[in-house]
Amino acid sequence: MSKSSLSITDNRTGKSYEIPVENGTIKAFDLRQIKVDGGDFGLMTYDPAFTNTASCKSRITYIDGDKGILNYRGYPIEELAERSNYLEVAYLIVHGELPTRAQAETWAYEVTHHTIIHENVKGLMEAFRYDAHPMGMLMSMVAALSTFYPEAKQIRDPASRRKQLVRLVAKMPTLAAFAYRHSIGMPYVYPDNDLSYCGNFLQMMFSVGGTYKVDPVLERAVDVLFILHADHEQNCSTSAMRGVGSSEVDPYSATAAAVAALYGPLHGGANEQVLRMLKEIGSKDHVAAFIKEVKTSGGEVRLMGFGHRVYKNYDPRAKIIKRMADQVFEVTGRNPLLDIALELERIALEDEYFIKRKLYPNVDFYSGLIYQAMGFPVDMFPVLFAIPRTSGWLSQWEEMLQDGDQRIARPRQVYLGSARRPFVPIESR
Ligand code: ACO
Repeated sequence: MSKSSLSITDNRTGKSYEIPVENGTIKAFDLRQIKVDGGDFGLMTYDPAFTNTASCKSRITYIDGDKGILNYRGYPIEELAERSNYLEVAYLIVHGELPTRAQAETWAYEVTHHTIIHENVKGLMEAFRYDAHPMGMLMSMVAALSTFYPEAKQIRDPASRRKQLVRLVAKMPTLAAFAYRHSIGMPYVYPDNDLSYCGNFLQMMFSVGGTYKVDPVLERAVDVLFILHADHEQNCSTSAMRGVGSSEVDPYSATAAAVAALYGPLHGGANEQVLRMLKEIGSKDHVAAFIKEVKTSGGEVRLMGFGHRVYKNYDPRAKIIKRMADQVFEVTGRNPLLDIALELERIALEDEYFIKRKLYPNVDFYSGLIYQAMGFPVDMFPVLFAIPRTSGWLSQWEEMLQDGDQRIARPRQVYLGSARRPFVPIESR
């Protein structure tokens, strides 16, 4: 009978060890007993960027990168995108189960009635320059919320946690829209409780003089994009949320850290980069030359919106988005950059360089085109990612706080610097 363990022989000492295997993993700490002698610290693993290290046990999101599978709480992303809505999905992610009708109504009521932000937040917003990046503003505003809700420090109190969760999910669209309105010098539009989560967001973004009517196709498109972005297990921003949250700081500060992580061009900033790249390429005729540049640059020039740390087959979210693009373009008119994108995808998917490295379009490749056609400026793209990801970050944070295995995050290092040496006075250096 096969044993659920790993036998390790240390060739430095000739000693053997039996390490238990559980859920396809060994505990890194079990390696610590492997020592050359009594003075040895013990064996560690070296895993920069955590490419093969599970930092937690989770029951929220399942991804099989090779098969292109993404499930939230067991439900396939394709079914959720087809049959659910963002608020219901946020409830599912946070609570673990789909809501009953009564629960869905209560949840929607709670979120809708926490969308207003303290008037002083507007004052803070005013302090930003006219051309401030909305993601920078959002990050700062989320951090600032911690000063408005000092009770959020009670992170061991479930009722307080729940209250901050509702506030954050509810206020993100308001903060995002206000940041945008500030950047174009337009008056803020206050939340309208008669509208849906996404309808209200569109209204706060684009209403001028009270005549804006939310288009149901665009409202649904935003809803689906929000569903697709709600969670993605232990990515960079979620790891930031968990890592910073593990210090037991309040959830607003931890969420601000997650927003910061999402701001980076290799993460939530990627769809902004896709659009910039498509504009730079300029026309279908230049696509082949650009692909050549990517291939010969030694990794310096990347095809933005391609490749994923986990998906090595196809990003299932990209498939859904590509299908939805047609419906949106019927309302908004075709985005002229779409032809360049389609040509890029066509050439790249046939090219040995991309096939060998398993590089496929990711969620960001088409989402930017849709957002742009709807009138969102590229600066808003990472913000549009942060709004729905908030429910994912907070459920991961909640799970982390309730996990008895977790402590303050504190990785080890392999020290390769100088050995101890005496201080050298400046005149002798
Ligand atoms: N264009 C060209 N080459 C690429 C790309 C790309 N987009 N992505 C990876 N490669 C190449 C690398 O140069 C490397 O080649 P090499 O083996 O010859 O050195 C190989 O593919 C493996 O790349 P890694 O960087 O090791 O892959 P990793 O899993 O670390 O990176 C990442 C994943 C960061 C997403 C990467 O594919 C990338 O930079 N993509 C572009 C940015 C992007 O679209 N990010 C959005 C990700 S989705 C999200 O955050 C929501």
